[in-house]
Amino acid sequence: SGYVTLDIGYKNTGATKSAITFLDGEKGILKYRGYSIEQLAEQSTFIEVAYLLIYGELPTAAQLKEFEHEISIHTLVHEDMKKFFDGFPSNSHPMGQLSSVVGALAAFNPASLKQGLSPEEINTEIIKLIAKMSTVVSWIYKKSLGHPVIYPQNKLDYVTNFLHMTFGQRTEVVDFDPVVVNAMNKLLILHADHEQNCSASTVRIVGSSDANIYASISAGISALWGPLHGGANQAVIEMLEKIKLDGGDTEKWIAKAKDKKDPFRLMGFGHRVYKNFDPRAKIIKKACDDILEKLGINNEVLDIAKKLEEVALKDPYFVQRKLYPNVDFYSGIIYTALGFPTDMFTVLFALGRLPGWIAQWKEMKENKEPIGRPRQIYVGVKSRDYVPMDKR
Ligand code: CMC
Repeated sequence: SGYVTLDIGYKNTGATKSAITFLDGEKGILKYRGYSIEQLAEQSTFIEVAYLLIYGELPTAAQLKEFEHEISIHTLVHEDMKKFFDGFPSNSHPMGQLSSVVGALAAFNPASLKQGLSPEEINTEIIKLIAKMSTVVSWIYKKSLGHPVIYPQNKLDYVTNFLHMTFGQRTEVVDFDPVVVNAMNKLLILHADHEQNCSASTVRIVGSSDANIYASISAGISALWGPLHGGANQAVIEMLEKIKLDGGDTEKWIAKAKDKKDPFRLMGFGHRVYKNFDPRAKIIKKACDDILEKLGINNEVLDIAKKLEEVALKDPYFVQRKLYPNVDFYSGIIYTALGFPTDMFTVLFALGRLPGWIAQWKEMKENKEPIGRPRQIYVGVKSRDYVPMDKR
């Protein structure tokens, strides 16, 4: 065909039909498989939501038990994979480690590379990936501290096991404050899927070439790293810290964000689809207040964030462009309160987003979608003769 329609950035191009996540950006509605994000964040657990996203229904008690059991028997990673962590310099960014280690999981697992895997075999890889991801994320954190890794304790639920491997000092399991466990569950649930965003689209397009699930999701992790996407959560805290050091002058920073000659953007503000409040930001903002209060933390950065929000939401620049706080605006404040360093934030986003990426990859496979391959309009030089080196 001679005609190509351009839609740079896919601002108005649908790439698939999907039954996973519903998003109404004008009304600020987000639902997973028809269940509102508000109800899920309040009443569910992360692993239950993972089941819902991947298999389409909330699990029964027996299904959930079986799912958790299957995950728990795959939490170990190959001992040789520890050499990866030894090989990375101690200051390596956790996201660089995560994308490479997740990609390497396929290389350690030749069974996953077979073409034409059965649905049961695919399901085994899905379970393995969920299981190993939390171990890998925890070990990346341990590496940053220079501490020995902690092995999974399979009697623990997924989130507690993750906290154990991350914050535990030794093999014995310490009791985690339910406030911390609940906050972690809530944050992971809120990040679990967001329809055809940059990383999910990446996962689908890479998977559409029949690349294995680990390679597809490793690509999604790389897409998430960018500060316009998941990397925004790290960028927000860095911005808030800078504003704090600068004396907390929020008006000045809002003016910078509005100045078209200044590349600075208000991180954690604006969204391609939400032209109203991001419902995730609303839930996280409230959770932020609750958690800091329960943990007895007074956070100056939270006060700056709230002030910034207040000033921005009254400013015609932000009002006209319908720029509201997004999921990343307040999440970092909770991560900090839970004890995570700033450069781990995007890795936590990836841990939460994993079930969504898996569900998107699985749906793309089940829909038998063709290889993703956009067209272009060529605007380069039409034709010319090769010029020998001595004539250039
Ligand atoms: N600060 C200042 N101005 C902004 C901002 C911002 N954060 N976001 C958008 N704008 C302006 C932008 O300059 C443009 O103005 P104009 O019409 O005068 O040229 C207008 O608003 C529309 O923005 P856009 O860049 O065309 O919108 P987009 O849909 O391409 O980009 C976005 C969406 C999320 C990349 C963008 O809003 C942004 O860069 N936000 C800051 C980064 C951020 O918080 N990202 C996390 C997104 S949510 C979670 C996730 O995806 O991981």
